[in-house]
Amino acid sequence: MTDHLDKTRNQRTDFTKGSLDQVKHPDPFLFFSEWYREAHEKNCADPHAFVLGTVSKDGQPSSRIVYMRELLAEGIILYTNYHSRKGKEISESNKVSALFYWDCNERQVRMEGEIEKVSEELSDDYFASRPRISQIGAWASEQSQEIPDRATLDERVKYFEEKYPEKVPRPPHWGGYLIKPNYFEFWQGRLGRLHDRICYEKNDSAWKIFRIAP
Ligand SMILES: Cc1cc2nc3c(=O)[nH]c(=O)nc-3n(C[C@H](O)[C@H](O)[C@H](O)COP(=O)(O)O)c2cc1C
Repeated sequence: MTDHLDKTRNQRTDFTKGSLDQVKHPDPFLFFSEWYREAHEKNCADPHAFVLGTVSKDGQPSSRIVYMRELLAEGIILYTNYHSRKGKEISESNKVSALFYWDCNERQVRMEGEIEKVSEELSDDYFASRPRISQIGAWASEQSQEIPDRATLDERVKYFEEKYPEKVPRPPHWGGYLIKPNYFEFWQGRLGRLHDRICYEKNDSAWKIFRIAP
C-alpha cells in the first residue's frame, strides 16, 4: 500500500433523519417528485443536480454532474452539448444512469434507463430562456474538446458576442435529452448502516416494487 494523502476511515456519519417502512407510491415518479420537493423545502444544495452515468462503446463508464431541467411523468430532461463526451457516448449506447443525492435529507435516488434527444422545439424553447452569456457559451465552448489555453475560449466568446449582437440562435449541436428510467432505487439512510432501499423495476407497463438489503 502507498502513503495516505488523507485519512478518511474515521469520518463517520450517522443517518437518523428518516425511514422508509411503508411504500406509499405505486408510481416511482410521484415518489421521486415528493422527495425532490422535500429536498427543495429543506434547502438542500442544488437539489436538481445529479450524476449522469454514460458508457462508451468499449464499456468504459464515465460520470459527471448535470442539472435536471424538467421533471415529467415519464422521465427527466437535461440540456447539454450533443458533441460532448457524454453526447458521443450516448450516441454509442442509449443506456444511462442518474444519481441524485440529497445530503440534507440523507437520501439518494438511483435511476437506470434509456435516453433520447428531445424535440427541436423543446430545445429551442429552453435555449431561449437561458441568460445571454450561457447562450453565447453554448456556441463558444466545444464542450469536451482539447483547447490550447483559456485565451482561445475567451476569443471564441468575443467572436460569438459580435456575431450575435441581439438574439442568439440555438446551436444545432446543443439541446435536451430525456432519460426514461425503467429502474429506480430510493435510499433512506438509517442508523448502523441498516438503511432502507426500495426498488421499482418496470415490467411491460407495470412497476414491480421490492425491498433490497442495505
Ligand atoms: C453543479 C453542476 C451542474 C452542471 N450542469 C450541467 C448541465 O446541466 N449540462 C452540462 O452540459 N454540463 C453541466 N455541468 C458540467 C458537467 O459536469 C461536465 O463538466 C460537462 O457536461 C462535460 O462533461 P462531458 O465531457 O462528460 O460531456 C455541471 C457541473 C456542475 C458541477
